[in-house]
Amino acid sequence: MKSLLETADLRKTYTVGKIEIEALRGVDLRIREGELVAVMGPSGCGKSTLMHVLGAMTKPTAGKVFIDGQEISGMSDSELTGIRRDKIGFVFQKFNLLPTLTARGNIEIARYIHGKGVASNGHDQHLREILQLLMIEGKMERKPSELSGGEQQRVAIARAVANKPAILLADEPTGSLDSKNSEVVLNMFRELNRRFKQTIILVTHNPELVAFTDRLIEMRDGVIVSDNDSLSWDTENELAQPARSV
Ligand SMILES: Nc1ncnc2c1ncn2[C@@H]1O[C@H](COP(=O)(O)OP(=O)(O)OP(=O)(O)O)[C@@H](O)[C@H]1O
Ligand SMILES: [Mg+2]
Repeated sequence: MKSLLETADLRKTYTVGKIEIEALRGVDLRIREGELVAVMGPSGCGKSTLMHVLGAMTKPTAGKVFIDGQEISGMSDSELTGIRRDKIGFVFQKFNLLPTLTARGNIEIARYIHGKGVASNGHDQHLREILQLLMIEGKMERKPSELSGGEQQRVAIARAVANKPAILLADEPTGSLDSKNSEVVLNMFRELNRRFKQTIILVTHNPELVAFTDRLIEMRDGVIVSDNDSLSWDTENELAQPARSV
């Protein structure tokens, strides 16, 4: 099976003054199309850093990252911007909605940036299905301040997936929600995965999330310490094979 995301000996070191912080110390990871994966691990183990690299928000210090077949470590900033725009959807702990725009406006602006125009008025079948699934169809004219936390996060999810990104990355998406809203939001990630075959990687501190995912990756100190990946790989299609063999 082809991998949609792949890393080979991925390393990321931050330099603050004279101090070097090795946030990622050799991560080898492969994610298939259509997988729903949870990433867990203690604070500071490198989860967010991994998401930033997988989402082309930051370049690795060493190693390789393949996003949908393209190796990003040698890319220019504008090429990275293109990868982010075309391939990646992000959901954050803090919903990051624009406060002066309505829910509809927040979703439209993302679509506009993606060059897909403003078509979130109900004529766009895909978006309509997403709004239905997320149960926010009736809330589109409200501003973020007029929505609950759970609703705001669902608008942020709609914004992230409206352009059908190959990969949806969510960094502690339920971190600002109470347990009831967390469960609602997690169920919606699972539905997006099942219904639209959306590939999703979720970072969480919540052990209950494991029940919502197919695969759990655990990190400690910048490396993966366990991965319950149970499916086989067709090695002939491994994108990082040449990188690993040098
Ligand atoms: N921009 C940065 N500059 C310097 N150091 C950083 C930066 N971002 C993260 N770090 C450091 O890199 C390490 C990994 O941080 P990261 O944010 O990836 O951890 P995390 O697993 O997401 O933690 P948390 O669960 O608290 O969100 C930590 O030691 C952190 O202090
Ligand atoms: Mg983090």
